[in-house]
Amino acid sequence: MNTIIKIPNKFSFNDHGTYNFDRVLNIFNWTLEKQTVLIDFSSCFRANYQALSLLTLYIWHLRLNNCFIEFQYSYNMEGATKMWQLMGAKGWHHVLKNNNTNFNGNEYKPLIAVRHQKDFAIALSKTESYTQDFNVEYEKTLRYVISELLYNTLEHGPRIVCQDRRHTKIPSIIQFTWYKNKRQLQFIVADLGMGIKSHLEQAYPPFESHGEAILESLKYQVSGTFGRVDPYKSKDNAGVGLYISSNIIRRLNADMHVVSGDGLVHISPTDTTITPLQEIWPGTLVLVSLNLDLGEGLNLHSLMSEIRSSASKELKEADQADEKETFIISVLNFFGPYAENKQEAISFRDSRLLPSIEEGKSILIDFQGVASAPHSFLSALLATPIKRLGMQSYKRIKVVNSEPEIRETIDYILDDNTSA
Ligand SMILES: Nc1ncnc2c1ncn2[C@@H]1O[C@H](COP(=O)(O)OP(=O)(O)O)[C@@H](O)[C@H]1O
Ligand SMILES: [Mg+2]
Repeated sequence: MNTIIKIPNKFSFNDHGTYNFDRVLNIFNWTLEKQTVLIDFSSCFRANYQALSLLTLYIWHLRLNNCFIEFQYSYNMEGATKMWQLMGAKGWHHVLKNNNTNFNGNEYKPLIAVRHQKDFAIALSKTESYTQDFNVEYEKTLRYVISELLYNTLEHGPRIVCQDRRHTKIPSIIQFTWYKNKRQLQFIVADLGMGIKSHLEQAYPPFESHGEAILESLKYQVSGTFGRVDPYKSKDNAGVGLYISSNIIRRLNADMHVVSGDGLVHISPTDTTITPLQEIWPGTLVLVSLNLDLGEGLNLHSLMSEIRSSASKELKEADQADEKETFIISVLNFFGPYAENKQEAISFRDSRLLPSIEEGKSILIDFQGVASAPHSFLSALLATPIKRLGMQSYKRIKVVNSEPEIRETIDYILDDNTSA
């Protein structure tokens, strides 16, 4: 069987001045295996380097899914075909097979595979050569942000594929482009690792969505490796990388988009917004766009101490909010995979659920591993708490990891008990 992946005429995140990630992510089919896949560049004439660089990760993924990859280039070698060549992306196979080989592209279009400390150093030295004409403080600040993103992708983003008893690590990538006319620098750091949500869930209760998890990862001292870090035993500054980086981005008047799973969070000077995507990226990608005219008067040291001091203020507020905390109910633990016993639901509701609500706690109900929970069970458990909370139920009661039927039933019960 053969599949053609056709790169559209315009392959870019930028859609008339706004960002559109779905348009790029939509061409990737992650389920293909054991077949020939033709990547067709022939009609793509307007592409963006960051979007194209994601194709290298996709092709690695296909290759390790036992696909054979063929390419169709444009007849005059223009457009995406030329860009692919300039980035040295044609060397994708050597880079995957040889841990010490990297892309051999044009120095102005650096695409770098990131697998270990040596690649990390290559990536940073490329940044340096790129930014040598900039103001020194600007260069240091940028280097800080890029290092944090590279550390994250190395530490939290590797994906190991086992094929014919051989383990291959899919590298992460970084790609920069300097848009001279606009005096703009854009770069992407991307990986096919487990994604932010799964990584954070190693240390935190499950999140309602990928977007919520990304938002959490941006907070001070939130780390999937250590959980909420005890400030007195701070472990190597854990959990501050994304907090500081995203705040630097804000102060620099830049834009940062973080995509993981079907979550997209946009960080800009004025706001931080979550937008769910139609498509997914099965890992993490961070796209940063900076305007280089704004580096005047910048001082990395004072910027960092300013950000840290506002962090400790935020942390105090968070601690106060935490006192009320969340009551996490694992339905599997309390009621088993078939949560059907109405009597058990009623006694749990009266002895545990209602008292927690009285104490002002939020309720997080985790349906992981639960195959069924019929209406009468859910209604016995939730109708009274929902009536007591009224419209606040929508904020205070969260449901995660549920089968669609369970989710629908709960939505129905919520509706039924909050409408007048
Ligand atoms: N590329 C990534 N892949 C998966 N998870 C990530 C990635 N980047 C960040 N994260 C998640 O966000 C958390 C916060 O990142 P960060 O602020 O840099 O702190 P730290 O790296 O010290 O844990 C990480 O602990 C991890 O759970
Ligand atoms: Mg980090």
